[in-house]
Amino acid sequence: MDIASGLPPDTPVWRHAATPCLEPAAAEVLLRVSGVTKYFGQRAGCIDVDLELHAGDVLAIAGESGSGKTTLLNCISGRSQPDAGTVEFNTRHEGIQDIYRLSEPRRRLLARTDWGYVHQNPRDGLRINVSAGANVGERLMAIGGRHYGNIRTATHDWMNRVELDAGRIDDMPVTFSGGMQQRLQIARNLVTHPRLIFMDEPTASLDVSVQARLLDLLRGLTRDLSLAAIIVTHDLAVARLLAHHLMIMKDGRVVESGLTDQVLDDPQHPYTQLLVSSVLQA
Ligand SMILES: Nc1ncnc2c1ncn2[C@@H]1O[C@H](COP(=O)(O)OP(=O)(O)OP(=O)(O)O)[C@@H](O)[C@H]1O
Ligand SMILES: [Mg+2]
Repeated sequence: MDIASGLPPDTPVWRHAATPCLEPAAAEVLLRVSGVTKYFGQRAGCIDVDLELHAGDVLAIAGESGSGKTTLLNCISGRSQPDAGTVEFNTRHEGIQDIYRLSEPRRRLLARTDWGYVHQNPRDGLRINVSAGANVGERLMAIGGRHYGNIRTATHDWMNRVELDAGRIDDMPVTFSGGMQQRLQIARNLVTHPRLIFMDEPTASLDVSVQARLLDLLRGLTRDLSLAAIIVTHDLAVARLLAHHLMIMKDGRVVESGLTDQVLDDPQHPYTQLLVSSVLQA
């Protein structure tokens, strides 16, 4: 039995992504989060969270329901301003910038170009009343793509890359299965070549069999594109498969963080120990 995944030994080896994590000193800092805190009235969303991500790093955030994972992801991805703390991103042209000090249009441009956001429910991340091809192509148009033929070719390529039948480029997303919609959402996000992608439970709405293939795809993409990613998941097997680093949250705070294998194989905090052992017993 693979620790923390609860999978039998003959399951395809679900170890974390193979790309070695670069030494912090050698790699470029992409994202730096310091003291991020968000309250909803009296209720804590997330409290005093610090993290640093380098180009190509994949970080998983795990913890029970209500522990603050989505709140934190929203704060980091520019979707919800924290009450305290800073989120700094290393922009392509202007170096490190505090994202909440950027003007709203510049932050939105960053979100459309250098970042991607994959929602748990693909319908939240797709435009359901336009074709699959338009869902991908309009992201290119939003950043200035004008040549119809080039946009069509890029869309075609991305449908292939996420293993969607490009012959269905003119079909509406509602005619796609849940797994196909999630692939389409991923293509829509990656077509602009972001350097950082945020994912909130990207596989949780899918059947287990579909999940495994999508996870394989995501692992391949993050590795091949040197894409940095922050993945919220309640599933430690997903963290094991995809992420170099793992952060465990409870009641809005980070209780443990480190290399994924280390955290899962030798958890230090009693809460992490409980999470890991509950997977083993399941
Ligand atoms: N819009 C909101 N208004 C009020 N309280 C909120 C809001 N969003 C989140 N909260 C509260 O903040 C805390 C953290 O919620 P959050 O959604 O971040 O948890 P989560 O870890 O993503 O949970 P889940 O795994 O269920 O998605 C919870 O106590 C929640 O009730
Ligand atoms: Mg959530």
